[in-house]
Amino acid sequence: MEFLIPTEQQRKILVVDDEEKNRLAISAVLRHAPEPYTVLTAPNGLVGCKMAEAQKPDLIIMDWVMPEMSGLEALMYLKEREETRDIPVVMLTGLGSSKHVEYALNAGAADYLRIPVDKTELLARVQAAIALASSYRHIKAQSERLEEQNKQLLDLNEEKNEFLGIAAHDLKNPLNNITDLARIIETEIESMPQSEIQEFARLIRQSANKMFELVRNLLDVNAIEQGGIKPHLTSFDVREIVNRVVESYTQRAASKTIHLNFTFPDEDTITFADERLTEQVVENLVSNAVKYSPHGKNIVVTIHQPTASQDCITISVKDEGPGISEEDQKKMFGKFARLTAQPTGGEHSTGLGLSIVKQLAEVMKGKVWCESRLGEGATFFLELPRVRV
Ligand SMILES: Nc1ncnc2c1ncn2[C@@H]1O[C@H](COP(=O)(O)OP(=O)(O)OP(=O)(O)O)[C@@H](O)[C@H]1O
Ligand SMILES: [Mg+2]
Repeated sequence: MEFLIPTEQQRKILVVDDEEKNRLAISAVLRHAPEPYTVLTAPNGLVGCKMAEAQKPDLIIMDWVMPEMSGLEALMYLKEREETRDIPVVMLTGLGSSKHVEYALNAGAADYLRIPVDKTELLARVQAAIALASSYRHIKAQSERLEEQNKQLLDLNEEKNEFLGIAAHDLKNPLNNITDLARIIETEIESMPQSEIQEFARLIRQSANKMFELVRNLLDVNAIEQGGIKPHLTSFDVREIVNRVVESYTQRAASKTIHLNFTFPDEDTITFADERLTEQVVENLVSNAVKYSPHGKNIVVTIHQPTASQDCITISVKDEGPGISEEDQKKMFGKFARLTAQPTGGEHSTGLGLSIVKQLAEVMKGKVWCESRLGEGATFFLELPRVRV
């Protein structure tokens, strides 16, 4: 008995025929081809279908007339199933049976061979059918990839449109205010008291500031999404940055009778990150705490003492504000997330701050998250890589 050890590249062919002598003859040709095939055999259509499902051959040679399940039935069975649909099937037909050939090709056969099988023709047709099936698989995979990419582009386009729509809407309101106020000044300046003109100028400036803030945030989001933010990573003492932010917000908090506290360890506050981006992240978190806290509450900003094994420095901003529901927490780091909590001092809200915060933290190999329960305040955490000194 002769054994041919299948190699990695060797193609697998399943020969389904109820006549043993046919199976042996075809197998012998295939096994001794210039590039030999691994041959599996099945004595009838039913067994052939089961073997095809289990073994996924590269090609099936199927006899037409067989007991139990005819070749045509087996062919139809295979073509109906996702996992066997793409396996090319070459049908064996008797001489002069053109009708069979027509049936077989219509039912999805890749090709046909007349019995008795000619050795050269068998090898040529097998080779061609395998090559065709392989190109088909390649084209199918390519077109699936293109379809997937197309879907992603459509999703992105939709997201961009939504983004533009909200941004345009948010810019329109302050712009309308500016136009209306300027028109009143223009037409009624003669009769307007100085104090009213001053008040209008203040409102115009306030609207312009809102637009400026939105444009700045939009530019940040755009830069992040284009991969345009390249962090400048250095070692620095994060205490100085946090302190600067806390100082800059103390006055604003005091105007809402909010007490802003800062606690930090004596040492171990050196981080490896981008100073400017860290300041932007901490600023957003402190600004939110001040913006959403009711009057008379406390805010505590903490740099936590890292444990010996910790590779990061954790900064938290804890407030006694309205807290954030689980549902809002899921949306909070998305774009234009203006959620249940409303500013308590008439501050402006673009809903972009936390989405920028999240991405900036990640750009610096850090992370940001929130722990909160509705009605029980919120604590935001920022984790940045630690430098041991
Ligand atoms: N500390 C907080 N307590 C309660 N709700 C908060 C807190 N911080 C954020 N939120 C909620 O999450 C939403 C998103 O916050 P985010 O900072 O992204 O946007 P914003 O503050 O509305 O606007 P801006 O872009 O100006 O920061 C807010 O609108 C608010 O409803
Ligand atoms: Mg904010």
